[in-house]
Amino acid sequence: MNDDSQPAAVRARGIVKSFGTGDTQITVLKGIDLDIYLGELLLLVGESGGGKTTLLSAIAGILDINEGNIDVLGVPLSALPANKRTRFRGQTMGFIYQQFNLLPALTAAENVAVPLLIQNIGRSEALRRARGMLNRVGLPDRTEFLPKNLSGGQQQRVAIARALVNEPRLLICDEPTAALDGPNGQKIMELLREVGRSPDRCVIVVTHDSRIFHFGDRMASLTDGRITNIERIQQEGTA
Ligand SMILES: Nc1ncnc2c1ncn2[C@@H]1O[C@H](COP(=O)(O)OP(=O)(O)O)[C@@H](O)[C@H]1O
Ligand SMILES: [Mg+2]
Repeated sequence: MNDDSQPAAVRARGIVKSFGTGDTQITVLKGIDLDIYLGELLLLVGESGGGKTTLLSAIAGILDINEGNIDVLGVPLSALPANKRTRFRGQTMGFIYQQFNLLPALTAAENVAVPLLIQNIGRSEALRRARGMLNRVGLPDRTEFLPKNLSGGQQQRVAIARALVNEPRLLICDEPTAALDGPNGQKIMELLREVGRSPDRCVIVVTHDSRIFHFGDRMASLTDGRITNIERIQQEGTA
């Protein structure tokens, strides 16, 4: 729950991001202010091409911004040198990419184990935890499959397991249910909501899938490069 006395897990101020130069330059983010609190699942919506993925990449510190500040868990991410940023990201964040980004030569379990191996966790322990996470996303019988032998929805669930395996405090999800059918989308959102409900963790989800809106605590709208509206989502069964 996010009372105002609680510091934001993510505090973004005045984020400006442009691509290209000269005549072909486009400014995608035109001054974004956004807070994400511990214990919440924040939905981010907006039209296609509006800069949602760009904003997620900026929050993760994957993409350099032109102007503004981003603090994550009290750390001034935008001021860190690249190597420290990468290490900080590995320790604190999980990212579910829109394009999955699975490594084609690795099995599902090996893909999920990658964030643990990077943290110097031993291979057998990493694979054990990876298989456990694949079980939780409903793929216990696909752990030794290569990505090319999995459906799009199954690949998406492997990517979700990979993002969760490290128990990240900040989980960043780019259209995590886009390749999933209704029941699997619901199942994944239940898992993401459970993460968001942990008092020391939070989740941001880009989506335009209205079937999953009710899993969010708040919804932020990105329009014309700015956050134009933030509203609290009425939870089912509450007044
Ligand atoms: N690396 C890049 N180089 C140039 N333009 C980019 C790059 N990444 C994104 N863009 C442009 O930024 C805009 C926003 O893209 P994106 O953040 O992917 O939108 P969304 O996720 O909301 O669909 C688009 O016009 C896209 O073409
Ligand atoms: Mg996108």
